[in-house]
Amino acid sequence: MDRVQDKVVVVTGASSGIGRAIAQKLSEHGALLVLGARREDRLQELASRLPNPAEYRVTDVTRREQVEALARAALDRFGRIDAWVNNAGVMPLSRMEMDKVDEWERTVDVNIKGVLWGIHAALGHMLTRGHGHFVNISSVGGLKTMPTAAVYCGTKYAVRAIGEGLRMETAGKVRVTTIYPGAVTSELTHGISVPEVRRSMDAFVDIAIPPEAIADGVLYALGQPADVAVTDLVIRPARQEF
Ligand SMILES: NC(=O)c1ccc[n+]([C@@H]2O[C@H](COP(=O)([O-])OP(=O)(O)OC[C@H]3O[C@@H](n4cnc5c(N)ncnc54)[C@H](OP(=O)(O)O)[C@@H]3O)[C@@H](O)[C@H]2O)c1
Repeated sequence: MDRVQDKVVVVTGASSGIGRAIAQKLSEHGALLVLGARREDRLQELASRLPNPAEYRVTDVTRREQVEALARAALDRFGRIDAWVNNAGVMPLSRMEMDKVDEWERTVDVNIKGVLWGIHAALGHMLTRGHGHFVNISSVGGLKTMPTAAVYCGTKYAVRAIGEGLRMETAGKVRVTTIYPGAVTSELTHGISVPEVRRSMDAFVDIAIPPEAIADGVLYALGQPADVAVTDLVIRPARQEF
């Protein structure tokens, strides 16, 4: 029996890359998916193609009321939320002296506040039921910082800290898994506005592994028996040093 069969799983940032691969993988294993992101055409296409019933809701994770509406969509359609994957993220890298304050703000809003709004939207429901599972997508940048990534890494360290605090506070009821991907093929580097910084990511892009590798990690974490918590998973290309 597949342990994710019939689990209701909300995935943010499901319109591309890692989120899309997570939705595809979990649906193939019998989960009921609720997809959130801003690009409706992509969500609609994915929801219609998934092998198991799925719902979607256009969601900007920086907007608390839209994340609350995503949770309501899950409850209206399926009656419960078993797991919530906080995956949506942006990575507009730059050096701090470039003073890209709008990009800093967006990175914090999506990567930190978006995760908090996801926890806000589902935690009460999970505690009432006595069980639930958050999977938060951090990064190897949440374990080690690097030039041009000070703000991005700061947000990914925050995801780690928030997840670990949540895990300790809710132990025995809600499980929390933090995943730290290394280089993964996706659209993430498309959002880098500084040409030389984007070019500096070429080596990273060259060794990237497919997003299905991260989806396998999510499937593994969600598929454990109720008394087993997979709390941290680092999944990186074998060739990646940092
Ligand atoms: N790729 C890597 O190498 C790598 C490594 C470590 C960690 N990660 C993390 O993995 C996660 C997924 O990234 P990815 O690599 O799959 O990149 P991606 O292909 O660019 O996907 C990012 C997803 O986030 C969504 N998103 C962005 N801003 C949003 C917002 N305001 N509200 C709702 N959704 C939003 C995008 O959807 P819309 O644009 O349709 O809203 C998209 O579905 C991120 O948290 C990223 O930091 C990636």
